[in-house]
Amino acid sequence: MRIICVAGARPNYMKIKPVMDALERRGAEVALVHTGQHYDPAMNDVFFEDLGIRPPDHFLGVGSGSHATQTGRVMESFEPLLAELSPDLVVVVGDVNSTLACALVTAKGGPLLAHVEAGLRSRDWSMPEEVNRVATDRLSDYLLAPSPDAVENLRAEGYREDQIHLVGNVMIDTLLANRERAAASDVLARHGLTPGGYGLVTLHRPANVDDPEVLAGLLKALGEVAGHCPLVLPVHPRAADRLTELGVPGGILLVPPAGYLDFIALQASARIVLTDSGGVQEETTALGVPCVTLRENTERPITVEEGTNVLAGRDPERIVSTAVRLLADPPAPRRPALWDGHAGDRIASVLLDGGPAQGRPRPTDHG
Ligand code: UD1
Ligand code: UDP
Repeated sequence: MRIICVAGARPNYMKIKPVMDALERRGAEVALVHTGQHYDPAMNDVFFEDLGIRPPDHFLGVGSGSHATQTGRVMESFEPLLAELSPDLVVVVGDVNSTLACALVTAKGGPLLAHVEAGLRSRDWSMPEEVNRVATDRLSDYLLAPSPDAVENLRAEGYREDQIHLVGNVMIDTLLANRERAAASDVLARHGLTPGGYGLVTLHRPANVDDPEVLAGLLKALGEVAGHCPLVLPVHPRAADRLTELGVPGGILLVPPAGYLDFIALQASARIVLTDSGGVQEETTALGVPCVTLRENTERPITVEEGTNVLAGRDPERIVSTAVRLLADPPAPRRPALWDGHAGDRIASVLLDGGPAQGRPRPTDHG
């Protein structure tokens, strides 16, 4: 079977790696297409080095732009490549603009489409990622769900049972495969941190970092949390200028975006994590580190129900009281079922053992 795997932005690399490896181990011919949505060495190259991903076979080089510009550029570049390579199947991961753009082109181009991380729903239509998730699922033949809540969402939306596959969490495959290597990182020493002696922060959601008033409120809350536990914040490029303009309170150390192994090391030794990232909510649950999510909702409710995650929203007082509570009384960790390091293998079984969904109705037939 000839398969295209698509990646393009930071949270895609750790998801596509175990899928590519599992497909290739079982004899599939895989071409890696990189859209170029993220391109800074610290947002891109370091992940290829840390995770041992081979250089992309095809690079679309789309770069940054508005949603329409970025999505449109990926579509324009991917369409002729898809026609040239004429694969049996395209695999997309996650919920970034590159995911939706390649899904749209594939759905009209003929090959089957598989979505890894299908069925996650925040039910917050103001999030660009929610639009990307819902639309990508609608276009996909194979819906590869990380958790039972995702399966339930897909069933409730009327997808057919033969499209839905509970496979587990590929991001955790990569985490478990790299924990030991991450433990050898010297990132704590480089930033003057001691294990268990700091909190880790990430911020990049448009709703948190694009509006200076909202960001100022979050920084005020983080400043108060830093009074209880010093914080380190690897800065996403989206937030860099605004953080410089606003300035950060004392006790918060700004550092460049971390590479994968360094960031896993930072999470594993943190006393607490405060974040608006999707993937970090999952990794903290798998690592058993308390997590305060700076959002009103999550598409990953299993991290709240079974893991270490607490939703604190954007209200500064609520953020501080939640963080103080978790610092005093950390939640007991429990790793969700199928977050076991073998999701990539299960995906390869679904895609290769079943063969292409020969003769099955396509998603457009589901009514
Ligand atoms: C994107 C994803 C988001 C994901 C995040 C992961 C969409 C709609 N959003 O958000 O779901 O959580 O990636 O990190 O796809 N920039 C750089 N260098 C880079 C990349 C970006 O400087 O290598 C800057 C540019 O100014 C750019 C801005 O960051 O305009 C935003 O980048 P973009 O890829 O559009 O969205 P993210 O906020 O990174
Ligand atoms: N990550 C990283 N360095 C950082 C911040 C995050 O390596 O400075 C990793 C993190 O461990 C996780 C992924 O990037 O594997 C999450 O990506 P991000 O938060 O950018 O996107 P989201 O998951 O919110 O879409």
